[in-house]
Amino acid sequence: MGKTYVVTSGKGGVGKSTVALNLAYALACDGRKVLLVDMDAGLRSLDLMLGAQNELVFDLSDVLDGTCDADQAIFPLRGRPGLELLPASQNSASLNLRPQDIRAMLGKLKDKYDYIFIDCPAGIERGFRNAVAAAESAILVVTPDNVSIRGAERTYQLLTGEGLNDVMLVINRIGRRPAVSTDECIARLELPVLGFIPDDPMVGRCQARAKSALQEDCPAGDALERLALRLLGRQVRYKIPHDSLIHRFKTHFGKVSHAKAD
Ligand SMILES: Nc1ncnc2c1ncn2[C@@H]1O[C@H](COP(=O)(O)OP(=O)(O)O)[C@@H](O)[C@H]1O
Ligand SMILES: [Mg+2]
Repeated sequence: MGKTYVVTSGKGGVGKSTVALNLAYALACDGRKVLLVDMDAGLRSLDLMLGAQNELVFDLSDVLDGTCDADQAIFPLRGRPGLELLPASQNSASLNLRPQDIRAMLGKLKDKYDYIFIDCPAGIERGFRNAVAAAESAILVVTPDNVSIRGAERTYQLLTGEGLNDVMLVINRIGRRPAVSTDECIARLELPVLGFIPDDPMVGRCQARAKSALQEDCPAGDALERLALRLLGRQVRYKIPHDSLIHRFKTHFGKVSHAKAD
């Protein structure tokens, strides 16, 4: 029985699709069977990020309105055995989808996969509720700035309101001088940390070439691989990008607790 994660945030453009795709890729590399579900109707991006955009015939709303079976809409990625994509609809018709239909459809697919990652649209409207409906756990992605953190606080309230209490935090795009420190992000959101990802130009370059960041020897790819290993339950040391020597020393000797998940 597969485990279903929704990858969400409050603010758009913080790296939800990037995190969903690369975690799915990493777990498929580890021999797991993984389904990526693009729930960002109208703006779908995972097909582009995976180079599958010209090969798709059906999408999620075709499955839900009975035009095709799930097997016909799910697209196995050629370059990565074990990784499959259920694309979002490109028109807004799928905004009329209902959470209970999504839950029923993905419930039927759970037996076929070890992991299902649902890529959530930005915002907290209906698309959000549809994306959250079938998930058991959430990965909340933030960037280290006030707007993103405020959006994440609101999203966390909505997740728990939907009964989703297993929520892990990913802090993405950490640069040399983040507007909000990683310690403050964690203190404000008070969530277990799945991991930290540096701001890395290689992420954009990989996306332009329809590759995973894990296919390049780059800091973001390494970080995303560590996140995936933690999802598999492995003990992996936390590595905060651009962390100062003094902070690392304090963290090591327990003066700063950077990860409740530790
Ligand atoms: N760690 C990172 N380093 C550099 N760029 C990143 C990183 N994560 C995401 N990006 C870039 O940020 C943009 C938004 O990412 P995306 O995953 O599409 O966000 P979302 O799905 O939340 O809208 C993309 O151009 C992507 O390449
Ligand atoms: Mg996205």
